[in-house]
Amino acid sequence: MATIKVDLDRINGEIDKRMFGGFAEHIGRVVYEGIFEPASKLSDSDGFRCDVMDAVKKISPGTLRWPGGNFASAYDWRKAIGPVGERRPVIEPVWKSVESNLFGTDEFVKYCRKIGAEPYICVNLGDGTQREAMHWLEYCNAKTGTSMADLRAKNGSDEPFGVKYWGLGNEICGNWQIGHKDAKTYAADALEFAKVMRQIDPDIELVAAGGIHMRMGFDQIERNWDRVILEKLAGVIDHVGRHFYARKLPVSIDEEVKFRDFMSEPEWFEDTVSILRGEIDKAMYHMSEKEKRDIKITVDELGIWYKGFDQIYNLEDVLVAGGLLNTILNNADIVSFFNYAQIANVIGPIFTKDDDLFLQTIYYPLELYARLASGNALDLFINAPTFDTEFRKGLPLLHASASHDRETGVMTLFVVNRDPSSDIEADIINQNGYWPKKCEVHEINGPTLDAENSFENKTNICIMSKEVEIDPETTSFSYSFPAHSITALTLTLNG
Ligand code: AHR
Repeated sequence: MATIKVDLDRINGEIDKRMFGGFAEHIGRVVYEGIFEPASKLSDSDGFRCDVMDAVKKISPGTLRWPGGNFASAYDWRKAIGPVGERRPVIEPVWKSVESNLFGTDEFVKYCRKIGAEPYICVNLGDGTQREAMHWLEYCNAKTGTSMADLRAKNGSDEPFGVKYWGLGNEICGNWQIGHKDAKTYAADALEFAKVMRQIDPDIELVAAGGIHMRMGFDQIERNWDRVILEKLAGVIDHVGRHFYARKLPVSIDEEVKFRDFMSEPEWFEDTVSILRGEIDKAMYHMSEKEKRDIKITVDELGIWYKGFDQIYNLEDVLVAGGLLNTILNNADIVSFFNYAQIANVIGPIFTKDDDLFLQTIYYPLELYARLASGNALDLFINAPTFDTEFRKGLPLLHASASHDRETGVMTLFVVNRDPSSDIEADIINQNGYWPKKCEVHEINGPTLDAENSFENKTNICIMSKEVEIDPETTSFSYSFPAHSITALTLTLNG
């Protein structure tokens, strides 16, 4: 038996309207064959796949990050503007592919407008220059009358794009990155880029490239990366980026041990967010009130990645995705937004072929949380049976988060039952009064942990919804969370 207490006054933070975001890198089949396919009969007159756009809109991306990722560190944006017939392909050294340059800045901004996302551009701090970044920003945000803005107008857009979010490079901390630098050099460079970019447009929000977290294998990253860059960039930047990819690790040959370890990935994610929060606090502590500028964390690459590029996800991955999303909500005071990596095909929730697509299992938690989480994220009390991994002890089998929208009165409780074989019954206690009579239940579950979706079986895993009655005039009701499931319980509290 478990207990979950909900108190509407215990607020973690407000859920930013831009919280749920996507990431479209030029890698594999994300852009070409994913979101952009001019020759397809499924595409609109701008070449965007309509079926993909419909699916993307349902996960409500507040921001869309582009063009990378690692790709950004060798990208020359100037090669991908102007008449399409005059654009030339280039060999791009990051993913060792040929970049056609058919999808560039104008196409990206247009795509964002169509899906209702704010564009978030990551500039090239790998082999790129300050001048290129400055001109890119001028191209996007300046009023006509200057050379770059006039070039944009000539390419079809008189009105400035007003791109608000700009990333100062990608994963410069990693030795795989083109233009990899040590933390001190990166911070000094990023500061200079920020200086000129703010002169062009003082209203932009800048994201510094923070360290990344991936358990086992990325030990080569400079240990104090975040501390060093924050010491220099606090007061200038608005967000520090954090990348997190959950992985199923070969910690044992025993499948059950591996499963338990995989289920603990949200706790590793929680750690990395907490540590970064601490680094931000420390940098702020040493600043005068005058110098201070609020810094948030943007998890600008969040995903599950352990089976190559075109990874097919299963129900196990769904449980981890739910845990990651709970962790985002549980840190809503400091996380401004996240970008799910990536939006289609490569480690993405949408999988396409020429004439069709299917929604991967992990699409559904993204859809569920994006649709239902709004208002304040709540700080829950949870007491549940626990499990251990080799590295962590006493993790609750029920992993949860909640949101409450004061305007609509809707409270949603998100619960992942990480037990692979047993349902867990919980008393759900309202600390503020009676529960309403009706509760909407949305459940993501499937027959087995390895159940997947496919072109042939598109809804093997999806969201099933129903309504249940609660005894009137009760402050506590009991709900049995099925084994290996995500459940969202939605209750309207003051309507
Ligand atoms: O999302 C794929 C890659 O993962 C990105 O290019 C890079 O930033 C990260 O390491």
